[in-house]
Amino acid sequence: MSKPCWLMRQAGRYLPEYRKIREIAGSFLNLCNNPELTKTVTLQPLNRFKFDAAILFSDILIICQCFNQNLSFINGDGPQLSPKLSEQSIELMSDIITSNVFKNTYQAIDLIKSELPDKTTFIGFAGAPWTVATYMFEGTSNKDFLTTKLFYLKHKKLFSSFISKLTRATGDYLINQIDHGVEVIQLFDSWSGVLSESDFYEWVIIPTAEIVTRIRLERPGIPIIGFPRGCGINYKKFVIETKVDGISIDQFIPFDWAIKHLSPYCTIQGNLDPAVLIQGGTLLEHEVKKILSKSKDIPFIFNLGHGILPQTPINNVIELLNLIRN
Ligand code: CP3
Repeated sequence: MSKPCWLMRQAGRYLPEYRKIREIAGSFLNLCNNPELTKTVTLQPLNRFKFDAAILFSDILIICQCFNQNLSFINGDGPQLSPKLSEQSIELMSDIITSNVFKNTYQAIDLIKSELPDKTTFIGFAGAPWTVATYMFEGTSNKDFLTTKLFYLKHKKLFSSFISKLTRATGDYLINQIDHGVEVIQLFDSWSGVLSESDFYEWVIIPTAEIVTRIRLERPGIPIIGFPRGCGINYKKFVIETKVDGISIDQFIPFDWAIKHLSPYCTIQGNLDPAVLIQGGTLLEHEVKKILSKSKDIPFIFNLGHGILPQTPINNVIELLNLIRN
């Protein structure tokens, strides 16, 4: 049996059929808010490539709207969130966040579920609290994270109370996704790699472990994949302490290290450099064969180390699947 394969951002700008629907929708957020179009773009990569899993089409930042932030995506500039979080706005937040921000997403899940073949796994997702918090404090894609870091260094208790609210809202959101039909969860923590060891423990491991424990308890049997991107050797502590079922590894982690240190605890996913998939040819063949041979005796899900990039030639995705399946 060949290893299962899906790609992060498999519905996206490298596909002409995606770009067409995105244009009809007018904006990325309109696309996320239209259940019928969300269904269409979620299923597009499956129709074309027969991946083993579908991932819900949405974004990790939609949840920020539950906390009264306005979200927009300005082409080329990434996400914009306003107003940014402050001491006052956090103090004024209630503990229980109720919102109908996700109404359209749940409807989209129902539609996708009704059309997805039984053999295709349906993956739901959320951003992990730390990464979502960085966008809510910075207001945009800001690579030094200083606003967020200085906030927790100055107001640790308040930051911690905010992370707790976000952890709870994220758990609620994921449980609702499960009730509408997703079968696996992935938690994206794209900026976990910018934290020191102790901050990583506090803001990545503890909230993730809380979400995992809650889902295990309230919706047993749903596998959870963690993706603490860029966290280096902290990956090991992460899998041990959070008890995730699967770990998505970036391309910076040596595969042999992951087999030795992570595989005893959970299923590994990922590692192929998205740039290699753009390059294609003999390099792609060599790298894919290397991963396949090293992973032959362990549970493994083929994926990239990060999302597929818009420049990726479609033929290289076909070639990737041929290499995995033949
Ligand atoms: O993987 C999938 O196919 C599911 C859909 C999905 C999207 N974003 C769609 C998207 C998922 C799981 C995400 C996660 C996400 N979003 C993350 C974590 C993973 C990662 O990439 O590190 C983050 C940090 C975000 C926030 C975000 N969304 C940014 C910074 C941007 C702008 C950058 C860009 O690529 O344009 C987005 C926009 C976004 N999310 C797009 C897609 C397909 C592009 C929107 C478009 O079509 O113009």
